[in-house]
Amino acid sequence: MERVFVNYLVLFAALISASFSATVQSTPKPNIVFVLADDYGYNDIGYHGDQIKTPVLDRLAASGVKLENYYVQPICSPTRSQLLSGRYQIHTGLQHGIIGNSQANALPLDSPTIADKLKESGYATHMAGKWHVGFYKEEFMPHNRGFDTYYGYLGGHDTYYTHMINYKSKPYLDWRDETGPVFNESGLYSAQLLTNRAIRVIKGHNPDKHPLFLYLAYQSVHSPLQVPERYEKQYKHIKDEHRRLYAGMVAALDEGVGNLTAALKDTGLWDNTVFIFSTDNGGTVLYGGNNYPLRGWKGSLWEGGMHGVGFVAGGLVDKRSAPAVAGTVNRELIHVSDWFPTLVRLAGGSLNGTKDLDGFDQWDTIIKGNKSPRKVMLHNIDILYRRRGKPLEKYVHIWDTSVRAALRMGDYKIITGEAKNGSWVPPPDGRHYDLPVIKDDPNKNLWLFNITGDPYEHHDLSNKEPEVVEVMLRMLKAMNETAVPPRFPPSDPQSNPALHGGVWGPWQ
Ligand SMILES: *[C@@H]1O[C@H](CO)[C@@H](O)[C@H](O)[C@H]1NC(C)=O
Ligand SMILES: *[C@@H]1O[C@H](CO)[C@@H](O)[C@H](O)[C@H]1NC(C)=O
Ligand SMILES: *[C@@H]1O[C@H](CO)[C@@H](O)[C@H](O)[C@H]1NC(C)=O
Ligand SMILES: *[C@@H]1O[C@H](CO)[C@@H](O)[C@H](O)[C@H]1NC(C)=O
Ligand SMILES: *[C@@H]1O[C@H](CO)[C@@H](O)[C@H](O)[C@H]1NC(C)=O
Ligand SMILES: *[C@@H]1O[C@H](CO)[C@@H](O)[C@H](O)[C@H]1NC(C)=O
Repeated sequence: MERVFVNYLVLFAALISASFSATVQSTPKPNIVFVLADDYGYNDIGYHGDQIKTPVLDRLAASGVKLENYYVQPICSPTRSQLLSGRYQIHTGLQHGIIGNSQANALPLDSPTIADKLKESGYATHMAGKWHVGFYKEEFMPHNRGFDTYYGYLGGHDTYYTHMINYKSKPYLDWRDETGPVFNESGLYSAQLLTNRAIRVIKGHNPDKHPLFLYLAYQSVHSPLQVPERYEKQYKHIKDEHRRLYAGMVAALDEGVGNLTAALKDTGLWDNTVFIFSTDNGGTVLYGGNNYPLRGWKGSLWEGGMHGVGFVAGGLVDKRSAPAVAGTVNRELIHVSDWFPTLVRLAGGSLNGTKDLDGFDQWDTIIKGNKSPRKVMLHNIDILYRRRGKPLEKYVHIWDTSVRAALRMGDYKIITGEAKNGSWVPPPDGRHYDLPVIKDDPNKNLWLFNITGDPYEHHDLSNKEPEVVEVMLRMLKAMNETAVPPRFPPSDPQSNPALHGGVWGPWQ
């Protein structure tokens, strides 16, 4: 075990000092289109579940590479911050919760965003949709973080037609483009607005001048459950109202992605495009999402919180250009923080100027089917979260098991502290499901799973394999020592949109 531990420490050292060499590209740089869905559940894409139909996403995924061992973070800001920075939350101070609209908090400026790096590589960089990595000062706004253009909303959620979010129970507009708030789009559905904006970007793009980076972060399918009737109609047979509305919202998302890819094809950009689709976290069962057969849901440290839906497609990943991988399923370990070095590599850029990254370049994993360079994946360490149970005596010299944390090492995943509700919730489809019974003590605060052999987390191994537990707790401890203090400031009354023209935006 000692040796295993040493091996992993070496890996860990490699991980924190990840060096990187860019390949020089002779062909034109690929366009990169990244579509991020919100709160989109594992069981809610056609090729995982049969209750919700997603013909467009299914077809796209089938033409490219499905990522079936792909991880995001359990909630919004954490996933988005790691996507944009390539860095774990313990290294950006965003370990705890999401960034509330009225908190003076943001992804720090000490390291560039992926948009900064792609811009540096000559890309035209555009974003539409949900930002949610902080906006209390001008310098944190998307146009100051590498994006040439931005259209969308800054906070964590919004209404789909009026584009508002509350401050102290009063709704205020959160919808804007570069020129400021957009007041004239109330009544229009966000999936359509965001798709249309992305299409405008695509149609206005000149590929002779720049390659394109487009980040489309849909509002769909986060709560509130709102959708035009025409999308919901096909799901009349679903009796559960939340599930029915949610299914309709997925239909709008699917159609939007169809319109977007049609525009990429019409303009001839598709052939030279890498198209990535990802969720930001698991579905939320209270609002219609479903992650069955995974355990738990959004916000939890169970697989249902973060084993995400994801695939890569586009002209550079299809049968003509990548015959060896197109149409295959990739089961290598890939994490949302990996996109940063992967996309910089695709762009032929260099990682100069970034702080130490936690992500790995996964392009050869995806396009050649190579082994993933990632052996270890920190899900999170959140020292501010409420403690669960008492620190286990046996391990207290290494790690306080009442602290909320989770880590993956090879096949194994360890969870300590508050994992949150770990029920298996089947879709409300009228079928009978045999569900395991949870007999855990409410103060239990340590679990170990072999995720490769037991992806649905039925068999806790923490009593059976204490040596593995020990190695992984040591790893958590070593990682915790590299953490910056978490920032989670109180709500700032100056953020009140009533003081700023009735609109959410920078206030400091
Ligand atoms: C809202 O106003 C902007 C700026 O004048 C315009 O570009 C946009 O098309 C308008 N949107 C609608 C839905 O009329
Ligand atoms: C997709 O395009 C069709 C045809 O233009 C349009 O009616 C529909 O609203 C679009 N859907 C979305 C989600 O943008
Ligand atoms: C990285 O190197 C390029 C080319 O030398 C330079 O233009 C850019 O400013 C550097 N970026 C950072 C973040 O240091
Ligand atoms: C993690 O590190 C912090 C200091 O950054 C320390 O206060 C805390 O006790 C450590 N947690 C554990 C469980 O070791
Ligand atoms: C966990 O969630 C399930 C499904 O919603 C619910 O039936 C159960 O009571 C919850 N358990 C706890 C401990 O809250
Ligand atoms: C995990 O389970 C799989 C499938 O049963 C098995 O092949 C693998 O060896 C296990 N991993 C470890 C580290 O025991």
